Amino acid sequence: MHDKELFLCPPLYLELKYEINPWMDTSQPFDKQKAHEQWWTLVELYQKLAPRKVHILPPRKGLTELCFVGDSVFAVQNKALYGNFRHPEREPERHYVVEMMTTWGFSGRFVPQAIRYEGSGETMLWRDSILFGFGQRSHEEARVFLEQTFHRKVHGFEMELERFYHLDTALFPLDDDLIVYFPNAFGPIDTETLNSLDCELLPITEEEARGFACNSIVFEDHVITHTESKSFIRTLQKRGYSVIPTDISEFLKLGGGLKCLTLQHYL
Ligand code: ARG
Repeated sequence: MHDKELFLCPPLYLELKYEINPWMDTSQPFDKQKAHEQWWTLVELYQKLAPRKVHILPPRKGLTELCFVGDSVFAVQNKALYGNFRHPEREPERHYVVEMMTTWGFSGRFVPQAIRYEGSGETMLWRDSILFGFGQRSHEEARVFLEQTFHRKVHGFEMELERFYHLDTALFPLDDDLIVYFPNAFGPIDTETLNSLDCELLPITEEEARGFACNSIVFEDHVITHTESKSFIRTLQKRGYSVIPTDISEFLKLGGGLKCLTLQHYL
């Protein structure tokens, strides 16, 4: 697996004030304080595992969902590819992320404005290649910019279900030999692509997928996953993985999990 460092941004201005995915329901109560506590618990966990690999970006007023900081960018070895959000509500976040990543010394490329691309929400580095989701939030045309920026083979996956709108809600490369995925989120062509990858595939149930099981992170040899995916946690433990369950339930109301809160920079 690739070594990585993490960037996170506190949910200081997070609000449930619009609905841009089926998880969001503005009539539901949203506990900002609880979200804040859950976010800090996650950050403290990362810091305990590898303090020098965890960076906190300052929040900015008005950028409501900036805590899902990876959705603006995909970053490998100090190169960044910046995208364009499908929903205008989130577009301003991208300018902030460009500013921040530039300050951190990343060299950046931009996907042209007419092409939607939601960064790390849709993209993962796996072995020597890139896994890329499109169809709901990103245009397939973003693929060529990934190839040109990172010079790696790109495997594309069309996201079939509205509820599983980003690749990181339905697929999770756990290590070089195992990919976890929610089968219903993909059509026959993508299932074929997955089967051609020459690795083990671990399908999960709808209940596990709804518990954001695929929105997990591997960090310093541990799998950090949402507490709600109980049976998934047991499956991983039986396979000998060190699993650290973490509660991010408040963020599920926005359609985000712990991976969405964590921008991974692959080193
Ligand atoms: N409410 C946000 C949206 O719909 C949540 C983003 C979660 N990010 C992710 N990588 N799945 O854009």
